[in-house]
Amino acid sequence: MKSLKIRQATVADVVSLSRLIRHTIRVSNAKDYDQKSIDMLCAIFEPEPVAERIENELILLCFADANLVGTVGLRGEYLRSLFVEPAYQGQGFGKVLTVRIEEEARQKAIPEMMLHSSLTAREFYAALGYEFVELQSYPEGPFVLMRKPLQ
Ligand SMILES: CC(C)(COP(=O)(O)OP(=O)(O)OC[C@H]1O[C@@H](n2cnc3c(N)ncnc32)[C@H](O)[C@@H]1OP(=O)(O)O)[C@@H](O)C(=O)NCCC(=O)NCCS
Repeated sequence: MKSLKIRQATVADVVSLSRLIRHTIRVSNAKDYDQKSIDMLCAIFEPEPVAERIENELILLCFADANLVGTVGLRGEYLRSLFVEPAYQGQGFGKVLTVRIEEEARQKAIPEMMLHSSLTAREFYAALGYEFVELQSYPEGPFVLMRKPLQ
């Protein structure tokens, strides 16, 4: 893996973070969701709602050689919005971000990590120890509720 830096997002990151997430949705999630779902998901991550998220939850950014390559969030007991830039997928960045946000949750004494996985990511989360809870239906499409006890 290239040189790695993880830091908390600030409002100065809104535009680059929004761009990373929407690009990743269009490239990586398009095989599992129809165009209407992809457009709805991208709308959730326009700059304005991303700015609101930065104000209201912990969002971490991962940089490799100064390039923004991934992000993950924590709100309550929910791991949220994990995305790795398509060109950097399969190199361990998603795992590093997941392990890091689990550490943040442990420090907050959260006993169990919950998440809504995309259909695209469910095998990734299963490989990291997350158990299937149930398939849930949203206007944006189906997502998989998953859980992992944090010891
Ligand atoms: C899901 C995602 C975050 C994974 O990030 P990544 O950097 O590509 O994953 P990593 O390289 O860290 O993989 C970690 C492990 O999971 C495994 N893995 C990754 N993707 C996998 C998949 N689709 N199926 C099975 N295993 C997978 C890897 O083989 C690796 O195993 P290892 O530790 O034994 O080598 C990334 O593919 C992504 O952004 N996907 C699109 C956006 C998305 O759906 N995000 C989730 C929103 S809920």
